[in-house]
Amino acid sequence: MNGALPPLDYPDETFDWVFGISVFTHMDEDRQRRWLPELRRVLRSGGILILSVHGKNAWKVLSRDAVADLQRTGTLFVESRKLKGFLPEWYQTSYHTRDYVLGMIGAHLRVLEYIEGGMGDQDVIVAQK
Ligand SMILES: C[S@@+](CC[C@H](N)C(=O)[O-])C[C@H]1O[C@@H](n2cnc3c(N)ncnc32)[C@H](O)[C@@H]1O
Repeated sequence: MNGALPPLDYPDETFDWVFGISVFTHMDEDRQRRWLPELRRVLRSGGILILSVHGKNAWKVLSRDAVADLQRTGTLFVESRKLKGFLPEWYQTSYHTRDYVLGMIGAHLRVLEYIEGGMGDQDVIVAQK
């Protein structure tokens, strides 16, 4: 069990693998940036992080203007009709460009693979500490 924000209740270098499947697809940018160094902290040296994001294949639900914004900024956080009022404001729907993700994760870990459509509408990133 953990809180909505870091830290996790685990010592440094605890895990060989950390998975975040369909999790960064919901967090706002601030939270994504806070969680990455924390996930790095609990990974052992050489450990692997696997994350999924709403890359290009998921943009089809967005308006043309929203896609233009996303391409300009690299990331877009939008209220979800499904989740609004039901889940917190910071837990809605996030979209990313590949370059943004490579930069954000690459600041903390070595990105080994970016698999477009690796999980249906979601892209999958494999990164190593
Ligand atoms: C769309 S679900 C995906 C669940 C699972 N990974 C799967 O693929 O079925 C997103 C999950 O992220 C979890 N989540 C979001 N922020 C979290 C946080 N700070 N700590 C723990 N879980 C979180 C939510 O509780 C939810 O279970």
